[in-house]
Amino acid sequence: MSAALNALSSNDSAQPQTFEIRPFAGAVGAEIIGLDLAKGVNAEDFTRIHRAHLDHHVLVFRDQRITPDQQIAFSRRFGELQIHVLKQFLLTGHPEILIVSNIIENGQNIGLGDAGKFWHSDLSYKELPSLGSMLYAQELPSEGGDTLFADMHKAYDALPEALRKAVEGRQAAHSYTARYSETKFEGNWRPTLTAEQLAQVAEVIHPVVRTHPENGRKALFVSEGFTTRILGLPEDESREILQQLHAHSVLEENIYRHQWQPNDMVFWDNRSLIHLAAGCPAHLRRKLYRTTIQGDAPF
Ligand code: SIN
Repeated sequence: MSAALNALSSNDSAQPQTFEIRPFAGAVGAEIIGLDLAKGVNAEDFTRIHRAHLDHHVLVFRDQRITPDQQIAFSRRFGELQIHVLKQFLLTGHPEILIVSNIIENGQNIGLGDAGKFWHSDLSYKELPSLGSMLYAQELPSEGGDTLFADMHKAYDALPEALRKAVEGRQAAHSYTARYSETKFEGNWRPTLTAEQLAQVAEVIHPVVRTHPENGRKALFVSEGFTTRILGLPEDESREILQQLHAHSVLEENIYRHQWQPNDMVFWDNRSLIHLAAGCPAHLRRKLYRTTIQGDAPF
């Protein structure tokens, strides 16, 4: 663990807790059973959670009852929090929380209804993309609403030789606005971005293959949502390679599909995974609170 993370991790007043880390049957993800985040997490328990996050990439904390302040405080122990550019969807009094929701009240979306409509890594369109995100269930639909995660370390490790050579040492552009206005889920609108917002999401360049700063593993770092082109290649070749990389990333064997249960809090690693919101029927209410932790510049 880095010195900075270690310093953030001390919460000495919290009592040790007895909890289990149960890896899922596939390669990605683990459930945390018996830990109550509302009670606080001491340094030793935090170290276990941190290790599990690096090993399994997505942790599902079952049966949590935490306030927005508690979600923010726990998230902050992993790093600085990022405030989403769509200010109209931030929780009142808690700008660190983005409301992800398809609910419409008084003719207005109360949250970002189509967050995650394409596979992506959170905030890869920033110079400092996200380390990880925590998504905490508030209201869940009776049908649909799953979130899918794809392991980009596995995708990189199994890359066909020709594709590996084609992307070696390459960089790609990421843009928040690339597919911003494309509709996928019924009934949800996206506000027109102001000049100030557009300036906050100017295109950035990242390596196509990144090295995870904590576990040292390589991972593909491109997505259908935000990656627009590979630098130094003709447009059609860049498009073709991005399509191949995407098809290869989301192969069945790389994926964990999260079917939400009431009071789940899911914490994933954006340096290791891309994710997708599967969507749910428009008439069913879905609302979750997301915090986004800032990571390092990819290398
Ligand atoms: C997201 O991409 O942050 C949202 C995922 C979801 O709503 O399932």
